[in-house]
This record gives sequence, structure tokens and C-alpha cells, in this order.
Amino acid sequence: MELAGVQKTLSPVLKAKALDNRLPAPILGDTYAERVMRRLDPGYDRGRFGAGQLGLSAVVRAKALDDWAREFLADHREAVVLNLGCGLDARVFRIDPPATVNWFDLDFPAVVDLRRRHLPPREHCTLIGSDVTDLTWLERIPRGRPMLMIAEGLVPYLTEDDLRRLLVTLVDAFPTGQMLFDTVSVAAWRGSRWDPIGRRYNARFRCGFDDPAALADRHPRLRYVGEAPMNDSPLLMERAPTATRRVYRLLNLFPGFRRSSRVLRFRF
Ligand SMILES: C[S@@+](CC[C@H](N)C(=O)[O-])C[C@H]1O[C@@H](n2cnc3c(N)ncnc32)[C@H](O)[C@@H]1O
Repeated sequence: MELAGVQKTLSPVLKAKALDNRLPAPILGDTYAERVMRRLDPGYDRGRFGAGQLGLSAVVRAKALDDWAREFLADHREAVVLNLGCGLDARVFRIDPPATVNWFDLDFPAVVDLRRRHLPPREHCTLIGSDVTDLTWLERIPRGRPMLMIAEGLVPYLTEDDLRRLLVTLVDAFPTGQMLFDTVSVAAWRGSRWDPIGRRYNARFRCGFDDPAALADRHPRLRYVGEAPMNDSPLLMERAPTATRRVYRLLNLFPGFRRSSRVLRFRF
């Protein structure tokens, strides 16, 4: 099955993770990403921009989400994890949760099909091929346990209404949990029609927030916990090659860029 539109957005993120793994001190150190990327596109690191590390902020985002997830799972060993819009990301292998955790990786059927061909199966990890906005997939998830939702690079592709329905339905469905996801600013959302990657894949952002902490207002039990740095992350400045660091330092002079993507944690 061919990938179409927004499904193709998984590849720049996978490429960033593959390239990170080749740094002397990788941020994420994901060997799966490098292997899968090479199989999908053997020449992915060639050409003028092939091995450029400008995608490293997405790697920093993945690392922040992994760290929060590990922290949550250390305290909730019976949790249910919903990794939504999983693409070809190997988070379940990086985190390696105990067998008591039930992990679900969800993406469109075409992406799940590709995932089955390129990533190994794993016990206690179930793949769900579905549009995340068709909430009938939730019927397959066990209830009554703490729930961790991780959505990396997904939320900007949902409408605000779809996001609200997702958050409210999940909070109503579980006794306690956390939700980890990234959002883009209103300017980044509106400007996405000119974004070269979005144009190439015909995938525009469909929502943006300048005060994403206020998303907690969508449900009386939902609380904002905090955010992790992304474009101006100290880790990025420490590990990125000099040329990449210079580009980020320059771009971060513009608050509009620095705050264009935010990595957020909520609890209920
Ligand atoms: C930018 S990619 C991120 C992939 C992965 N989370 C990662 O970080 O490598 C966005 C992913 O969200 C998925 N996606 C977008 N809209 C979706 C929807 N309505 N239902 C399910 N998946 C969706 C796409 O297919 C794609 O795999």
C-alpha cells in the first residue's frame, strides 16, 4: 500500500532520528531508525542536504517524550500506553516497558502495514490501523488502568475539534493518566501552507495554539504539567554539529521560531 498525504510526514522525522544515530554522542541513539531508513531509501544520506542535521529538534522532541514516558511507566507498571500517529518510530523498543504494560501503536492502516514489514513484532504491543479521529478504536483498549497517551508530530494534523474530542474522550475513559504531545503556534499553523515539506506531501497543519497550556480547560479533570524545550533545547546546543547549532542559534533569535513548536505534558 502506498503512503499518501499526511502519512508521508513520517519520513523526515525517521530520517532525523536515523541521522542522529550517527552523531558521536547521539541524542536518541535509535538504531531501528537508521536500519529502517536505510531499507526504505538506501541513499537517504547522500546529496547536498542528505546528511544535514537540521531535523535534530524533532529528535530532541522524541527524547523529551521518551523521558516523560519512562518516568510515568516507572510509577505505573500496569499502564496502558497509546502511542498515536506512531509512524515508523521505534519508541516501544527504546523504552522497553515491562510485560505488565499494554502498549498500542496506532496509525493509518497503510502506515501500520509498512510498520509490520519493517519493524519486528513485540509481545504486549498491539498495532492498530485506524484514523485516530474515528474513536471506535478505543473499544479495543482495556479500561480501568492508568493511561499514557503519546502523540509525537500528530496533533498539528488534527482539527481543533478532533483534538478536543480525543482529549475529552480519553480523560473520560480512564481513571488517571498523562498525555504527552507537541503543538505548533498559530503562526506556524497558518504559515504551513507555504512550508516546503508540507507542500511536498500535501499535508497542512490544521490547528495551532499560542497558549497550549490552556488546552487543559477542555476537561475539568485535565491539568497542564509543563513543557520541554525543543528548538532552544540545551541538549540540542550541546550535541548538534557546529553548523547546525549556528543555524538554530540564529533562528532562535526570532521568538516566533523559538516558540513555533512546543512539547507538552498534561495529567488527569
Ligand atoms: C510527523 S509524522 C510522526 C510519526 C511518528 N510519531 C514519529 O515521530 O516518527 C505524523 C504521523 O501521524 C500520522 N497521522 C496523521 N493524522 C492521522 C490520523 N488522523 N490518524 C492516524 N494517524 C495520523 C501520520 O500517518 C504520520 O505517521
